[in-house]
Amino acid sequence: MTTIGNNSGENLHTNEFVWSLKCYQALYRRSIDDPEGFWAEQASALTWEKTWDKVLDWNPPYGRWFKGGKLNASVQCVDRHAQSEKRHKVALYWEGETGDTRTITYNDLFIDVNRFASALKKMGIQKGDRVAIYLPMIPELITAMLACARLGAIHCVIFSGFSAQAIADRVNDSKAKLIITSSGGYRRGKILALKEIVDEAVTKCPTVEKVLLVKYTSHNPPINTEKDIWLSDILDGDGTYVKPESMDSTDPLFILYTSGTTGTPKGILHGTGGYLLYASKTMQWAFNPSQESIYWCTADAGWITGHSYLVYAPLVLGLTSVIYEGAPDFPAIDRWWQIIEKYRVNIFYTSPTAIRMFMRNGEEWVTKHDLSSVQVMGSVGEAINPEAWRWYYKYIGAENCPIVDTWWQTETGGFMISPCIGIQTYPLKPGSATFPMPGVDPVVLDSNGQEAGLNKTGVIAIRKPWPGMLLDVYQNAELYQKTYWSRFPGYYAPGDFSMKDDDGYWWLLGRADEVIKVSGHRISTAELEHAIVGHNAVAEAAATAKPDEVKGEAIVLFVILHAGSVGSTDQKKEIIKYMRTAIGTVATPDDVIFVDKLPKTRSGKIMRRVLKAVASGTPIGDVTTLDDQTSVEEVIAAYEELKAATTKSLQG
Ligand code: PRX
Repeated sequence: MTTIGNNSGENLHTNEFVWSLKCYQALYRRSIDDPEGFWAEQASALTWEKTWDKVLDWNPPYGRWFKGGKLNASVQCVDRHAQSEKRHKVALYWEGETGDTRTITYNDLFIDVNRFASALKKMGIQKGDRVAIYLPMIPELITAMLACARLGAIHCVIFSGFSAQAIADRVNDSKAKLIITSSGGYRRGKILALKEIVDEAVTKCPTVEKVLLVKYTSHNPPINTEKDIWLSDILDGDGTYVKPESMDSTDPLFILYTSGTTGTPKGILHGTGGYLLYASKTMQWAFNPSQESIYWCTADAGWITGHSYLVYAPLVLGLTSVIYEGAPDFPAIDRWWQIIEKYRVNIFYTSPTAIRMFMRNGEEWVTKHDLSSVQVMGSVGEAINPEAWRWYYKYIGAENCPIVDTWWQTETGGFMISPCIGIQTYPLKPGSATFPMPGVDPVVLDSNGQEAGLNKTGVIAIRKPWPGMLLDVYQNAELYQKTYWSRFPGYYAPGDFSMKDDDGYWWLLGRADEVIKVSGHRISTAELEHAIVGHNAVAEAAATAKPDEVKGEAIVLFVILHAGSVGSTDQKKEIIKYMRTAIGTVATPDDVIFVDKLPKTRSGKIMRRVLKAVASGTPIGDVTTLDDQTSVEEVIAAYEELKAATTKSLQG
């Protein structure tokens, strides 16, 4: 077998390589030639109450998988393991930031999910209701998601770094009637006052009837006796059983908000049968876990990586996972390596931004720990730069473990392009996500919608529906069609630049739209601009990104102040603080640049390339392809003017 982890691609043209690729290709071909037959075979991995009538109902742009099939997500993740010989197998090793630990078996999880579901039922939660969850990374976050799923309620997890306004936007869009939160959480030794943040949000959320509180931190948050209920006050005993709701395969399981090109986040709606099958199968193919594996995904459950590969896929597969609540560098920069050593983690899944942060702090923090248990390493969120790839490969994987670079999105539900070491091994190329997952049919298109040839950069588009695809944008079919299906009719458009090389390897080259990736998290310039103009000193603003050594990209705001406001250092600090409160820590700008004028085309559109070039300190480059009436000279003049204003603002 070809050595996996070969990072130079040197085995690419040996017979061995050709042979190993053929094994993958045989399975892949079958998935593309007969997708319905292929997925029907795979679907036996789930426990169905009723088999589907139709594998795929494809009514473009809507794909409905396993139509007529009945199942419940919490049964897939918990009941069937708790009722098998896996009953006492550990499902979750939880490590709190303070050093507290909990070990939860599948049987424990079964008990906890039933008790939580019973509490939700007492609060009147029923099938189809939306429930917002704003919790730190404690086991109750997972239990709450599964308890909602048990009742057929649609969970809407909101990352615990988001602000009150961001919670309110998501709760109001989803019309959730309940928010589940906790007294607080821990982050770098401090208490995150989550309940207080929720209290502020709730004043703007008319649909919220109750707030359900998990007691976690030691402090006493303010309690509103009309609205707030402590979970501990309504929990039944261990023997409680809540009959799982019989769900259609195509019923929604959750809504997760993500940034798009509009000012407000979009509710990405995922279904049940197709999503669960896709998440679990892709995990098996990509990471090749065994039943003995100890798996750790460092993502927060508030993001799609957490939903698919921290909660649903590992539990559907009945695996043992580690979950960690806190910051990677607390109390010291080797906290993660301590955790790997302590739990003997075999499969480790993280982001390039984390790797770059560790790289910067030096390998001595890594080499003092025994990481020999690691067998497979994953990467997600953005393309991993070759330097970070090599460091990860050398120091975490001891030059002996493959790096599974997984390209996918909130909308895709699961991996789309990724090495599949559970199918076959082949040489890796640092920075390439290698080949499509079975069932995924991508193509690179040029700006005219024609197939770009090999080695040509274009945008990636997906030709066929796949089981993990989003059902819709929550209550916004128009946005769903416009965002994903209108750019190239008949194709799903993920919005990324891409290239396929001579060897057939796929390279994902970053966003082709106005979406910024900060530490792998998605935020649109429109959303930033929408938030910043709410500041009373700001007349107009434009957001862009500059490259950042650790975060990948960092936010830069160009701001025009109202007459009378001064572009002082204090004003900058105030705007930075404002952005954190308006959206959350993800939206923290690195630079705020005060200007009198923004570069605009004759038709009034912001010249985004000019902003980006000035913020990044790079030349403006080729400006001959502007589709506006604006002349090249005007663009260059705008560039020079903004550059001069920027220098002045940064010096000031
Ligand atoms: O641009 C791609 C980038 O992240 C986007 C999706 O972001 P989000 O929905 O927040 O999901 C992140 C976790 C799946 C994609 O459009 N992206 C994600 N993974 C990779 C990547 N870009 C290159 N390589 C990756 N492995």
